[in-house]
Amino acid sequence: MKVLVSGGAGYIGSHTVVRLVEAGHDVVIVDNFSNAVPAVLGRLEALTGTAIPCHAFDLTDHDKTAHLFAAEAFEAVIHFAGYKAVGESVAKPLDYYENNLGSTFSLLRAMQRHDVTKLVFSSSATVYGTDQAGATEDRRTFATNPYGWTKVMQEQIMRDVAVASPEMRFALLRYFNPVGAHPSGTIGEDPSDVPNNLMPYIAQVAVGRREKLQVFGDDYDTPDGTGVRDYIHVADLAAGHVAALEALDRTQDAVNVWNLGSGRGTSVLELLHAFEKAVGRDLPYEIVGRRPGDVASSYADPAKANAELHWRTEKSVEDMCADTWRWQSQNPQGYAG
Ligand code: WQD
Repeated sequence: MKVLVSGGAGYIGSHTVVRLVEAGHDVVIVDNFSNAVPAVLGRLEALTGTAIPCHAFDLTDHDKTAHLFAAEAFEAVIHFAGYKAVGESVAKPLDYYENNLGSTFSLLRAMQRHDVTKLVFSSSATVYGTDQAGATEDRRTFATNPYGWTKVMQEQIMRDVAVASPEMRFALLRYFNPVGAHPSGTIGEDPSDVPNNLMPYIAQVAVGRREKLQVFGDDYDTPDGTGVRDYIHVADLAAGHVAALEALDRTQDAVNVWNLGSGRGTSVLELLHAFEKAVGRDLPYEIVGRRPGDVASSYADPAKANAELHWRTEKSVEDMCADTWRWQSQNPQGYAG
């Protein structure tokens, strides 16, 4: 299929582009590079053996988006583009609502005008609010921050569009905690600022960019007191997107919701020690206070995706750490060299 990947130069988007090309799809990227760098395009060409066309503009620009759909006969869209930092969303709610909802309005309008009926949407476990442990897709959705609300609202917008336009087919993919990098070590997660997330922060401590890891609380109701999360290797996540895209071709359901996770929980200290094994030495850390808004445990019930997509995670936490370390040690400053 000819697929438009919005945010395709980003962390999850770039890994999904590789998987789409490997599966024989024809890919076009649109990205405003607000949280990605053009250098990734050269890495993608080296990995896939093909130059991936990339249009650099903001999807909230209705005219440019309409022009792109008029020029290219897309058969499907995978929509990653959006702001995604929980803390930042609390400080800048209007930026988050305007960008995340505005880009989706623009995309859906262009899709409808050009009869593009398949959309795979990058949603998040954050739509389960504080109720993330063992979450199944039928659980009610709510949020505890503006970022999470933009995901809840985008899912609702797509449900309502599906009622008005029954020919549409939506896959709402709720990710848990994406980590890892392509096994080649040539593409990976490259936060533009101080990493909010655990794995890239540990990787930057290991490569000497950060002094030590701060563990946000060890007094949670979990086996070792630190936060438990369902980490999923970005390569498994990319495979889940291709499986969902291809499932839209055969499903009669207009809206399809799938959790993409392993179903297993890993604590902060367990992940840190697994990373130390990958690096071959201890890494400095200190236990500090809890981070506001964190939940104790979050892990998926992935049974629906396992059954309906014939997909499951294959990579272990050790793979996630080894692949992250290969990417970070080969690219100490990320794509900046
Ligand atoms: C994981 C664990 C922290 C950093 C977030 C978003 C979620 C999704 C994934 C977009 C927690 C602890 C972290 C650090 C730490 N993003 N931690 N020290 O919060 O589960 O999920 O990213 O969809 O929406 O909420 O991921 O990696 O930030 O935290 O101790 O320096 O690591 O307390 O227990 P989180 P995370």
